Amino acid sequence: MCSIIGYLGDIAAAQIVVNGLKRMEYRGYDSVGIATFFGNQILVRKGVGKVEEVNSKVKLYMLSGNIGIGHTRWATHGRVNETNAHPHLSSSGEIAIVHNGIIDNYKELKESLQRDGYRFRSETDSEVIANLLQYNFDTIKNIKDSMIKTVSVLRGDYSFVAVFPDGTLSAARFHEPLILGVGKSGYFISSDVLGFVQYTDEAIYPNNGEIIIINANGLQFLDFLGRPVKHEITKISREFADVYKGKYAHFTLKEISEQPNTILKTADNTRSELELFIELVKNAKSLHITGSGTSYNAALIAKHIFLKYAKIKIESVIASEARFYPDYFDNHSILIALSQSGESADVLEAVKMAKRHNSTVISIVNTMTSSLPQISSVSVGLNCGPEIGVAATKSFTSQLGILYKIADNIAGGHIGFDSQKISQSMKEILVDHSKIRDIAKILSYASDIYIIGRGIHYPIALEASLKLKELTYIHAEGLPGGELKHGPLALMDPSVYVIIINPHDSTNQENLASAHEIKVRGAKIIGISDKYDDTYDYWIKIPTISEALFPFIEIVPIQLLAYYAAVEKHTDPDYPRNLAKSVTVK
Ligand code: G6P
Repeated sequence: MCSIIGYLGDIAAAQIVVNGLKRMEYRGYDSVGIATFFGNQILVRKGVGKVEEVNSKVKLYMLSGNIGIGHTRWATHGRVNETNAHPHLSSSGEIAIVHNGIIDNYKELKESLQRDGYRFRSETDSEVIANLLQYNFDTIKNIKDSMIKTVSVLRGDYSFVAVFPDGTLSAARFHEPLILGVGKSGYFISSDVLGFVQYTDEAIYPNNGEIIIINANGLQFLDFLGRPVKHEITKISREFADVYKGKYAHFTLKEISEQPNTILKTADNTRSELELFIELVKNAKSLHITGSGTSYNAALIAKHIFLKYAKIKIESVIASEARFYPDYFDNHSILIALSQSGESADVLEAVKMAKRHNSTVISIVNTMTSSLPQISSVSVGLNCGPEIGVAATKSFTSQLGILYKIADNIAGGHIGFDSQKISQSMKEILVDHSKIRDIAKILSYASDIYIIGRGIHYPIALEASLKLKELTYIHAEGLPGGELKHGPLALMDPSVYVIIINPHDSTNQENLASAHEIKVRGAKIIGISDKYDDTYDYWIKIPTISEALFPFIEIVPIQLLAYYAAVEKHTDPDYPRNLAKSVTVK
């Protein structure tokens, strides 16, 4: 999703802004731009493509000035082109803005401003902020009041940073992330700590509904009514600095490879948070669990293990669908929200709806400084470190780790969750995965891949299909094995590849029967199992572990398959097309 950044300080802003945008690339985007304030005017350079591509074309970093803003755009309103890329200038060119989020009432504001003679260049909702600020500044001639007046009429969820005609940098936050970095060389404003962590580990997290003003007189925080707000400086966790690829070709491979360590860190949670979480789950009259994408697939596994081992029923609902089921929620129900980023708009929307119906919200999140923990009664952290690759990998196994820990506690240890054993098994897969790489090469030519699993392995089949789609752009579909005969068998022919998630457990025999049905129709079979079977055209061996724990280790070879097939196809595994790491729009 869009990333915004601003800098005001003693050194050249352009390089800082460009570096910040590069570090936030993982959020996903289609165009990029920056503006600096130099010699009493605002200079803008922008274009379509990755930061490096645009930089090499228009030399973003060559803009002069110690005050700057920057943006990577993920198009929502208006096509992907240079005009729609941010920053946007006001009609007179005196004010520039970068914006993340959506302005719901932009059409009426735009029409009214056009009637007053303000010109618009782009098709975006964002440009209205620049002209509205200009309109208010033209009438009020005061930055603080112009900001207050502007936010009082904007509707929607947004954060934006603006440069005013005297070089003042001002920002506002409303239901979108915005963090202030306090460095020795100056101030940074960014949608993500990664935007400035290279320069400072001191940050302030403004509340929702706050304005920041930075100029030669220093720094001010105000609420939307203009009342001053005080903030303490927070030290950013040092792990945020760990955002380099190191010896790995891509973040995705690095993050897949980190799993033997990150699974162990699920044990690091503060005992009190976990205990409270467990108490709430145990005593809930009704329980729901939600998430989007990978987080939802983790929710499906949670549903299975809580029922089977802890005898607790949990209803799962995809976050974007939750609003169609308002009757799920009442003052007796608890909603468990899962999110790596803590910023997915669909998840936040589901949570807000549950809260409107007086339900209690508890969450499991990786980015603890994000919005979700702030609106949850209790929030447990994944502790797996920043996940940069757009496709979730280590956060998925860490989500499972926390959920298993909680379920196992309630089930009196019946699950036998053993993070050491899981870690060891993951290592065994990762240590020599050249065979997986070879199979990925073959798979990269496929046009259709089906993934089959039964019981607890069915959500893994769904997660596998998501990974393959996201990274390889190949059509992939996860199926419960028993459903083959109810339709999908019609699709089996020699061009098709089927991955069977088939550990030697209670689902094994039925899966082998499905494998035979598929094989006689000519499709190729990739078996992921701890035991060989001659129906497999390709066998990916996984270590033996207890039935409940197989999901942790069977997902690892699938992540690797998706990653290497993407490398083979020369797609970018870290930043797949049309996807964003944090989807902050509905
Ligand atoms: C986006 C990403 C997915 C991710 C989903 C949920 O769609 O592309 O990879 O699983 O958001 O993200 P969250 O941060 O809420 O877990």
